[in-house]
Amino acid sequence: MDPTGNTQAGREQWGSRLGFILACLGSAVGLGNIWRFSTTAGENGGGAFLIVYLAVIFLIGIPIVMAEFTIGRKTQSDAIGSFQKLAPGTPWVLSGIMGVASAFIILSFYGVIAGWVMKYVLGYLTGALTSVPDNDYTGYFVNFITSPVEPLIWQFIFMVLTVATVYVGVKQGIEKMNKILMPSLGILLIILAIYSLTLGGAKEGLNFLFNPDWSALTDPGVYIAALGQAFFSLSLGMGALITYGSYLKKDDKLPGAALSLGILDTAFALIAGIMIFPAVFAFGLDPAGGAGLLFMTLPNVFGQMTGGTIVGLAFFLLVLAAALTSAVSLLEVAVAYFMRKFEWTRQKTALLIGGIIFLLGVPSSLSQGAMSIALPIGFLGDNFLDQMDYITANIFLPLGGLIIALFMGWGWKKTDALRDSDFGESTIGIVWIWLLRIVAPIAVLLIFLNGLGWISL
Ligand code: PHE
Repeated sequence: MDPTGNTQAGREQWGSRLGFILACLGSAVGLGNIWRFSTTAGENGGGAFLIVYLAVIFLIGIPIVMAEFTIGRKTQSDAIGSFQKLAPGTPWVLSGIMGVASAFIILSFYGVIAGWVMKYVLGYLTGALTSVPDNDYTGYFVNFITSPVEPLIWQFIFMVLTVATVYVGVKQGIEKMNKILMPSLGILLIILAIYSLTLGGAKEGLNFLFNPDWSALTDPGVYIAALGQAFFSLSLGMGALITYGSYLKKDDKLPGAALSLGILDTAFALIAGIMIFPAVFAFGLDPAGGAGLLFMTLPNVFGQMTGGTIVGLAFFLLVLAAALTSAVSLLEVAVAYFMRKFEWTRQKTALLIGGIIFLLGVPSSLSQGAMSIALPIGFLGDNFLDQMDYITANIFLPLGGLIIALFMGWGWKKTDALRDSDFGESTIGIVWIWLLRIVAPIAVLLIFLNGLGWISL
């Protein structure tokens, strides 16, 4: 037994390095790529935003991904146990505690939105969404999310799927699901993007997404937007990648995996944008963002296009797959911790924690209109779901990422960090250390302070 009470021999592992990379990609590619990226890009200078985003991914995102992988593989432990093992009795563990808390909170509202996606999948299967009277997709959506019970049933079904995957285990459950879903998702997205480009709105759509508005670069808010999007999209700053890294064998190489994750996650976001905007412009609709784009604008587009029922069904199945593989990683962060801490079985832990997270999501679901539920802190957002989203994405993830960067950059001996990350004494390894020491902490501090409203950039 090691000091954290884990028998190393019995700990689960990925079947292959590819399985690990696909699982990380499954975690990263989610609701964040499908609409958050495109709208953030569109609102922040299009192509100019893209250049800043790519810089953030490579200079801050991928280095912290590497730090999480290195910590996880080294300790073979969960988000909290990793810090307790490497630096017992120090405050670094705060990052892990916030990480597990974030897993509970993010999954509580992620499950609500993913439940809506399931409702739409069924809507295309039964034809209910093909023939919405007067094309009133707004009415359809609002009616649904403001009703008290039905969204909860969908959230429950989604949580059952998530729990079932984690229940089965790392290799047979999580890895297998990602190995099937991620390649299918990629292929489907590319087919849909190509179809969308043939609809006549390609020029306007691509213009909206890529046309660089260079004047945006003088606005410091653009850099902050890029940083926040990168964290959310890479599943960074909460130990999800520590947990997944902990199921790696010691000899699986890390830098290539971190680089692939950064590149593929960005590619998914770009292709999703190339799928969404040409279609929206082809039918002369307003590309306004957020939940409205996904649940009101796109169904309207599908309603008008040839083959819309099939395309709509394919699209929402794709979103569901992306959301499910992300949700599974969120649940695994909490399950891995409680399993070790209380020496419970994986099965019992998955059921118990999944059940608690479902209940935590109930206020988020009801706050959409059935009841008015909100914390009395106005700047956090105006309903409970938005508030939980704000607290985690804008506060917990950046703060967790900041601590991880400092921990790896300053808390480890440089030679240890270089060895444990597989970089060795290479130039790129040294660059990595300094990105973690200086660039990432300062940048993350800026987004964090801005998120809290303490400074306004
Ligand atoms: N990266 C996921 C997405 O883009 C969300 C997520 C965040 C998943 C943090 C796990 C951890 O939707």
